[in-house]
Amino acid sequence: MSDAHVLLQAQDLARHYRVGRGLFKPAATVKALDGVSFQLKMGQTLAVVGESGCGKSTLARQLTLIESPSAGALHFGGVDAASASKATLKALRQQVQMVFQNPFTSLNPRHTVQATLEEPLKINTTLNKAERLARIESLLHKVGLRTEHLRRYPHMFSGGQRQRIAIARAMILRPKVVVADEPVSALDVSIQAQILNLFMDLQAEFGYAYVFISHNLSVVEHVADEVMVMYLGRAVEMGPKATMFARPLHPYTQALMSATPALHAADRRTRIQIHGELPSPLNPPSGCAFHGRCPLAVARCAQEAPLLRELDGRQVACHQLE
Ligand SMILES: Nc1ncnc2c1ncn2[C@@H]1O[C@H](COP(=O)(O)OP(=O)(O)O)[C@@H](O)[C@H]1O
Ligand SMILES: [Mg+2]
Repeated sequence: MSDAHVLLQAQDLARHYRVGRGLFKPAATVKALDGVSFQLKMGQTLAVVGESGCGKSTLARQLTLIESPSAGALHFGGVDAASASKATLKALRQQVQMVFQNPFTSLNPRHTVQATLEEPLKINTTLNKAERLARIESLLHKVGLRTEHLRRYPHMFSGGQRQRIAIARAMILRPKVVVADEPVSALDVSIQAQILNLFMDLQAEFGYAYVFISHNLSVVEHVADEVMVMYLGRAVEMGPKATMFARPLHPYTQALMSATPALHAADRRTRIQIHGELPSPLNPPSGCAFHGRCPLAVARCAQEAPLLRELDGRQVACHQLE
């Protein structure tokens, strides 16, 4: 695909937070996101996976322009967000919308469904009342809700229905990119597949590109085109879904996969167990951040951080792989 299809490009994107400023606490830096690069193409889904605390939501906040990165660059269709004018930024924000994990807190409890969906149209478009309602109703039906739901408030809906409303809100301005941060994690397992299928149906119909964040590899296997595995603010392995699931190379990716029982389809990989907690990004290990938990680690791994490099159809950051 040519570059014309690249909607979103992140280059060495980093977000550090200053924390601990207090009377007896020295200030310190949390490297929540520490240099992530990828391209997102039209109609594609990049799934971002990793343990809690590895920086997924921090990445989501940079991509949706809720925060500004500490370093690195973000380009939307070739436009550099860092040097964009206010008017351009406003236009970019409409193109990248977010669906949050918890539909019980992400919707305003005082707003009816209609008010929730109409507000972005009032602020950002010149549509008149009848045009706004027409757009709202047509999208409402596409997300599986009915016209009579428009007058209701969030508390009158189930979790799955609320997430349908949140999805409609994210899509009402017809963005190009939707960043979904664990959008099914707060839902009953029985509802999760319905919502995942809704995301995929909407993508097929409207061509959205997704950055789909999940800690659940079964979910990732369902939705992804490309997969990025994160560990402590960095990508350790990234590549096409089929390649990643058929032959995970990084010991961390292998460990995540062998910890997901539903994926044990075959003999296709060695079982790897990781021990210990995710280290703190306040005080990250030297060298490869994974070395303390890695079954393959050698002395070099504690000294030298591995860079991502091409290997066997994907990118991987590990000294021990040939
Ligand atoms: N605003 C913030 N201030 C300080 N630390 C933060 C902030 N946001 C996130 N962090 C820290 O950054 C790391 C990554 O957090 P997060 O992006 O929420 O991870 P994930 O979504 O993968 O669970 C965590 O250690 C978290 O405590
Ligand atoms: Mg998160």
